[in-house]
Parts: sequence; C-alpha cells; structure tokens
Amino acid sequence: MQELHDAPLAPLTTFRLGGPATRLVTATTDAEVIAAVRAADDSGTPLLVVGGGSNLVIGDKGFDGTALRIATTGFELRGTTLELAAGEVWTDAVARTVEAGLAGVECLAGIPGSAGATPIQNVGAYGQEVSSTITEVVAYDRRAGAAVTLTNEECAFSYRHSRFKDDPSRYVVLRVRFALEDAGGLSAPLRYAETARALGVEPGDRVPLADARETVLKLRAGKGMVLDPEDHDTWSAGSFFTNPILTDAQFADFHARVRERLGDGAEPPAYPAGEGHTKTSAAWLIDKAGFGKGYGDGAARISTKHTLALTNRGGATTEDLLELAREIVAGVREAFGVTLVNEPVTVGVSLQGSPVQ
Ligand code: EPU
Repeated sequence: MQELHDAPLAPLTTFRLGGPATRLVTATTDAEVIAAVRAADDSGTPLLVVGGGSNLVIGDKGFDGTALRIATTGFELRGTTLELAAGEVWTDAVARTVEAGLAGVECLAGIPGSAGATPIQNVGAYGQEVSSTITEVVAYDRRAGAAVTLTNEECAFSYRHSRFKDDPSRYVVLRVRFALEDAGGLSAPLRYAETARALGVEPGDRVPLADARETVLKLRAGKGMVLDPEDHDTWSAGSFFTNPILTDAQFADFHARVRERLGDGAEPPAYPAGEGHTKTSAAWLIDKAGFGKGYGDGAARISTKHTLALTNRGGATTEDLLELAREIVAGVREAFGVTLVNEPVTVGVSLQGSPVQ
C-alpha cells in the first residue's frame, strides 16, 4: 500500500482541479482497500474514495482526511459472466468484452473512469445503462464492517442513480459482476436513434460489436467525451448536469415557458421517463438559455463541442468552475423555471452556495 502526505488530488481528476489530500493511499488489492477504509473509520478520519476521477469536483482547499485511490485489477470472464475489480479502467474493459465477442456494454465504450464507479451513478450512454447487465456488486459495507454482495435489485438503480448515491458514505465498491450476451458477435439491439442513424440501421437492429463500439467512440469524440490530454474540451466530468425529469404538470409549465420565450412552434426535447414523467435535455436548456458552446471568458468554460460539459481550459480553479456552473443554473432557471442538478460528486464544496464544512 502506497502512502503520500499532502498529496495533490488535481492530477487524479479529469478536470485537473482541486487541492491536496492530507493523506493519499493507493490500494492494489481488495484486502488493502478494506484495511485502508477500516483504518480511517477506526480513527474517525474522513475518507474520500477516488476511482478514475472522472466524476469528481474537489474544492480548492482539498480534502482533510484520507483519499483512497482504488487501483485494484481483475478482469475475469467465465462464459458470458464478467467480474471486474473496481480499479479496472472501464473503457479498456469494454474493449475486451467486444474482443471476446460479447454484447451488453459495447455502447458504453469511451466512458472515462473506473469499473467500480459505474454502478454508483448507473453509468449510461447511447441506449445502454450498466444496470441492465450488472448482476451483483461486491462492496465493503462500512456500517457492517464487512464485505457484502448486493443483487441488482438491491442496488436500486434508476437514471444516473442508485442506492450507493443515496447513502454515499456507506459502501466502497470492490467488484462488479455482469451478465453479458453471446449474440454471435453482434451487439445488443441499438436503442439510441443517433447511433442507429450513424450506422445506417434502424433502432432495434443489431450490428457487429466492433462497429457499435467504434461508432460510439466516434460520436463521443465529436462531443469531447473521450479523454485526450491535448484537448481541453475533455478536461471535464462529461455531462455536468443530469437531464431533468419533470412531472406532467411541471412539463406543461415548462412547455408554456418555452413557447413564451422561443415562439409558438418551439418544442423542447421530450423523452418518456416512466409513468407521468418526461425527461428533457439539459444541453438544450443550457443552449437556449443563452449559454452556447464555448461560453465563458475565464479559464472555466463550456466545452466548444457540447453545451453539457463544463471544462477547464488550463489554470482554472474549482471556484471558477463553480461560478460558471452557478451562472448556468441561475440562467436556465430564470429562462425556463427548471433547476439543473449537477451530476459529478462535489468534495468540500457545493454548487448550491457556500462550501460544505
Ligand atoms: N444538445 C444541444 N446542444 C448541444 C448538445 C446537445 O442542444 O451542444 C441537445 C440536442 O437536442 C440533443 C440532446 O441535447 O438531441 C441530447 O444530446 P446528447 O445525445 O449528446 O445527450 P445528452 O443528454 O447531452 C446524455 C448523457 C451522456 C451520454 C449521452 C449519449 C446524461 C446527463 N448525459 O447526454 O452521458 O454520453 O447522453 O447517450 O444523461 C455523462 O453522463 O457524463 C455523459 C457524457
């Protein structure tokens, strides 16, 4: 187990933002992860679990406690069952499932971060969500002081949400198990119109796995959603806000606001989101509220490729980023009456206002 003191956390995040941790521990086995968590809990030391750092906004003051970097490895494929150690790089694991000819996560190619982070916010893209292939999550339960296995149902997955987000300090993910599908080298049926269009097929069709993966990588890269150290548009946490889910009544109000502001023919994006609910597009709201691609004049700006990604152009501080995020939330609220909620996890700071103590 490696241990550093007063260690910078910014290099461990895709934003490259945030101050140092009092102590940074890197664990390469499950036993080391558990030992580090127990040591922190026994001494009452605050704990910050860091995976791929792709969904983290760390305050400029850093983290006063133990930051635990999960660097465990393990890719075990038995038939169509896959078990990944939490520290595995997600996008590499996806590439290996595609090489193995198995379907189920090919549209989640190019998503930065670690395998252990995927169940936490039920990572999803291009019509797939990990909740549809995860069978079990093995986690260290800090309340019980033991490793436990949670079934898919117990994870309580929903859009960008799970039990792990409800109770963020209780579990540390160790392993994630997936049931993939052997469809003779073909992908799962394509669920996202944009992917189907790019492949020249209809939604619901299957295509060769490698084609699905490559198409998704291309679409993502076009939106600055594939990490590239040279490209500041990718110094981000992917989507900074979740897509708002509105009740029918809220949607009706919102629709009226849209027409008032953008003219009678204006139609906001609307996707079914369960009985009595509609999901709209945060990117669209941001755009139409006047925050276009590249918006901002400081070191934190909206990506030049996608309005939903906030980016560090180099030399930004977390405060710069939060200032921009707050300006967008206020602008969208004023224009459309919808309050955007941040998707990345914040540490020591909060989007809503004053720093968390
Ligand atoms: N749009 C704009 N301006 C833009 C980009 C998009 O107005 O600059 C509008 C368009 O109307 C477009 C709609 O937004 O049709 C949806 O855009 P997109 O397909 O890019 O999807 P998204 O809602 O912006 C979500 C996920 C992404 C995921 C993509 C593809 C969330 C919060 N985000 O983005 O996930 O890759 O769909 O499935 O659900 C992430 O969570 O970090 C992430 C990148």
